[in-house]
Amino acid sequence: MKPEFIRNFSIIAHIDHGKSTLSDQLLLKSGAITERDFHEQVLDDLDVEKDRGITVKARAVAIDYEYEGNIYQLNFIDTPGHVDFHYEVSRSLAACEGALLVVDAFQGVQAQTVANAYAAIEADLEIIPVVNKIDLPVTRIEEVLEEVENIIGLDSSDAIRVSAKQGIGIEDCIEAIIKRIPAPKGDPEAPLKALVFDSKYDHYRGVVTYVRIVEGTLRSKDRIRFMRGETVHDVIEIGQFRPSMEACQSLGPGQAGYIIAGEKELGNIHVGDTVTLQGRQAEEALPGYKQPKQMVFCGMYPIDATDFEKLRYELDRMALNDASFSFIPETSDALGFGFRCGFLGMLHMEIIQQRLEQEADVGLIQTAPNVTYELKLNSGEVIKLDNPADVPESGNIDEFREPIAKVTFILPADKIGAVMQLCADRRGIYFNTEFLGTDRAQLVYELPLAEIIYDMHDKLKSITRGYGTMDYEVIGFRPADLVKLDILVKGTLVEALATIVHRDSSERRGRALVKKLKEEIHKHQFEVALQAAIGSRVIARETISALRKNVTAKCYGGDISRKRKLLEKQKKGKKRMKQFGEVEIPQKAFLSILEAG
Ligand code: GTP
Repeated sequence: MKPEFIRNFSIIAHIDHGKSTLSDQLLLKSGAITERDFHEQVLDDLDVEKDRGITVKARAVAIDYEYEGNIYQLNFIDTPGHVDFHYEVSRSLAACEGALLVVDAFQGVQAQTVANAYAAIEADLEIIPVVNKIDLPVTRIEEVLEEVENIIGLDSSDAIRVSAKQGIGIEDCIEAIIKRIPAPKGDPEAPLKALVFDSKYDHYRGVVTYVRIVEGTLRSKDRIRFMRGETVHDVIEIGQFRPSMEACQSLGPGQAGYIIAGEKELGNIHVGDTVTLQGRQAEEALPGYKQPKQMVFCGMYPIDATDFEKLRYELDRMALNDASFSFIPETSDALGFGFRCGFLGMLHMEIIQQRLEQEADVGLIQTAPNVTYELKLNSGEVIKLDNPADVPESGNIDEFREPIAKVTFILPADKIGAVMQLCADRRGIYFNTEFLGTDRAQLVYELPLAEIIYDMHDKLKSITRGYGTMDYEVIGFRPADLVKLDILVKGTLVEALATIVHRDSSERRGRALVKKLKEEIHKHQFEVALQAAIGSRVIARETISALRKNVTAKCYGGDISRKRKLLEKQKKGKKRMKQFGEVEIPQKAFLSILEAG
C-alpha cells in the first residue's frame, strides 16, 4: 500500500468522553464490522476492561475507507484515558501522525483532555478537535469550543461535531482524518525498521509482536532479527487487526500490524525494540521509548506457598503484555516467598491484581502499596527505597526524600475554597489559579505523591459532586520529615504491615491503623495486642480480646453435618489469610493503612 493512502491516528480524550464508542463507529462505518456484530466497545476485550467499562490497553486497528475514488487505509489506536496509563498514550502517539481529541459536549475540557492534548502537541501531531455527545439533551458546544481554544490553544473553528452513540458526524470525522492528517513518510525500499510497540502471549501461537513499520517492507516469508536481543526468527505470519487478526502478504512504511515468529520464550521481546531483516539489516535501531517510572509498589505473595513458581510465570506473562509493570522476588518473615511489584499508579495496581486473579487463578496476599522514596545516607550514598521494611536505622539517614507531583485540577469555581483546604491538609504548596470562563477554574498545586494516589481522586469527586477532575505528573523528590511506622502483633514486628508516614501525622495514623486492624483481625483463643511504634517508642495500642467459646462447642457433639459445615465455613474464611506465629492476619488487614488516613 502506498504511504500516501495511509493515515495513522490516535483517539485521545478525558475518561468517559467517548473514545471507545467513537472507535466502534469508525469500525462500523468502514464496514470492518457489521451492524449485527456491533456491540458496545468492541475493542475493550480484556475482562477487567469490560468489568470496569474503561480502556486499559491501547489497540491498533486497520480499516479501509473509500474516499473520492481511492481506498485509504486508516490505522487507529484506541488509547486509555486514565492518568495511570499516560505511558500507553505516549507510546500510541509515537506511532501516529495525527490525533482526534474527543471532548464531551457537556463536560467540556477536563484535566486529562489537557494532559493528553499537550502530549499530542509535544509529539508534533496534527490534532483534530471532536466535540462528542452532541445528542445530549443539554450541551454547551460553543463554550466547549472556546475552552479548546483558550485552555489548550488549538484552533477550534473547524472542530467536528459528532454523536458517537447515534452515529452522527462520523463521515465528517473520517473526511477530516484523510484531509488533515499527513501521510506517513518512509521509503518502502530501505532496509526494514519496524518499531515494537506492544506484544502479547497467545497460548497456541506463542508471542504476538505488534509493530509499526517505519522504513522498508516486511514480507510474510522474511527472516527477521530483533536488534536488541539479537535473536533471529523466520516469520510464520504477519497481518493486521481488522479488528480481529487477519494475515497479509506485506506491510509497508506507516502500516501497523502483528508478527508471529514462533517465539515461545517469555521476556525475549522488548517493547521499543526494532525489528529488521536478517541479511539486509538496518544500520541503527530506532530510538525506542523512554522507560516508564514505576511510582507505586506493593508485595504480592501466593497464599499457598506451592504457587510461587506459577505466580512467577504469570507475572512474566503480565509484564510481557505490559511493559510498565515490573517485579522482583522478595522474602518476608510474615509472608514467605513472593514478589515486590512496581506500578504506574493505583489503578494500574488494581488492574494487574485483578487480571492475575481472573486470568491466572492464583490466590494472592497483597501488602499495602507505597510510593518510591529516596534516602541520602550519612555515608553520602543516595539509595532508592520501594519497601518500607528496608528503611535503615534512623541514625544512618541524613535526608529522607519523597516524590512530589504537580497536580492540575479543573473544577467549578465555587469549589475552589474546599479543594484548597483539601490540598492544605495534605501538605500541598499552592501554585496558581486560572479562571476558565465564568464558572470554572484551573487550580495548580504541588503535593507529595503519597498524599494523592490513594484517595485524592475520590475526595475530589465528593467535594465537587463529581464535577472536578485532576491530573498529575511527578516532578522530582523533596526532603521531608518522614518516619517508618511499625506494627507489632502480639509483641512481634510484622514488617509487611510497616508504612512510611510524615512525622506530624504519625500519631494520628498509628492510632487509626491499630483501630482498623482490630476490626479486621478476628478473635483468637487468646488476647492479641496490636501496637504501632516508631523505633522503640510505642505510640498507639489496641487489644483484641480472647474468644470465649469454641465455634463448634454449641453443636453438642451430636450433629456431625452441622459441625462439618461450620468447619468448612471457617476454612473458606481462611482462604485469604496468612498465619503469622499464632495469629491469623486476613488480606484486608494488609490494606488497612489505606483506610486509616
Ligand atoms: P475510557 O475508555 O474509560 O477512557 O472511556 P471512553 O472515552 O472510551 O468512553 P466510552 O466510549 O466508554 O463512553 C463513555 C460513556 O459515554 C458510555 O456510557 C457511552 O455510551 C457514552 N457515550 C459515548 N458517546 C456518546 C454520545 O455521542 N452520546 C451520548 N449520549 N453518550 C455517549
